Amino acid sequence: MTCSQGFCEARLNDLSAGQGVDSLFPIRRPLELEIGCGKGRFIIRSAVAYPDRNFLAVEVARRFHNIALRRANSRQLANLRLLCTDAKFLIRHVLADASLRAVHILFPDPWPKTRHKKRRMLQPDLLHALLRVLEDDGCLHIATDHQEYWEAILVAVAGVPELVRMSRFTLDDRLPVGELGHTNYEVKYRRTGRVINQGTWRRRGRKEKPGEGDSPGR
Ligand SMILES: C[S@@+](CC[C@H](N)C(=O)[O-])C[C@H]1O[C@@H](n2cnc3c(N)ncnc32)[C@H](O)[C@@H]1O
Repeated sequence: MTCSQGFCEARLNDLSAGQGVDSLFPIRRPLELEIGCGKGRFIIRSAVAYPDRNFLAVEVARRFHNIALRRANSRQLANLRLLCTDAKFLIRHVLADASLRAVHILFPDPWPKTRHKKRRMLQPDLLHALLRVLEDDGCLHIATDHQEYWEAILVAVAGVPELVRMSRFTLDDRLPVGELGHTNYEVKYRRTGRVINQGTWRRRGRKEKPGEGDSPGR
């Protein structure tokens, strides 16, 4: 990584040159990925709160990536890197098997029009791609304010038996006291009283038998 990129910027070229994602960070630690980080509120707070983990945020819109990058660079966080690219490409073609401790997809674009629904992030093919990159017992966190999208997500996830719904949204453990939400969109929506659906799924261990570890208390 060159200095001109700024402290927290990662570039796809660095990765496609054969270097793994771990090479972006000075120290190898459990890695969490946020897909569509927007202006970076959640991932920057997470990186500050958990210095013993590495965080990678991918955002396709250059304008939002630049805002998040500016905020991250000003904090010089060694455990945070931001990448401006399509998350689907990153997941399918760049990330190694079982390389992620957690994946966060918070308020993905709902694409409400019928003819646009195929653009939605959370579809069966992406869920299967996530299965490959999540480590055993790794977590997938999803939140959305869009009821119909949420119902479609529940159907899609139910079709992936390797993902086991947990009894609560475990990300709430890292919401700072007094904060209204994890992300910019969540804060905005909660202010207006909009209903928000959220869930955590655990990736079943690759050697785990179906049904094992499904107790609702997990
Ligand atoms: C509704 S916004 C939510 C932003 C942030 N998660 C929040 O809650 O404040 C969805 C974000 O996902 C980004 N996005 C959409 N498709 C993406 C993709 N394929 N790869 C990476 N980011 C994507 C959009 O550019 C946008 O910033």
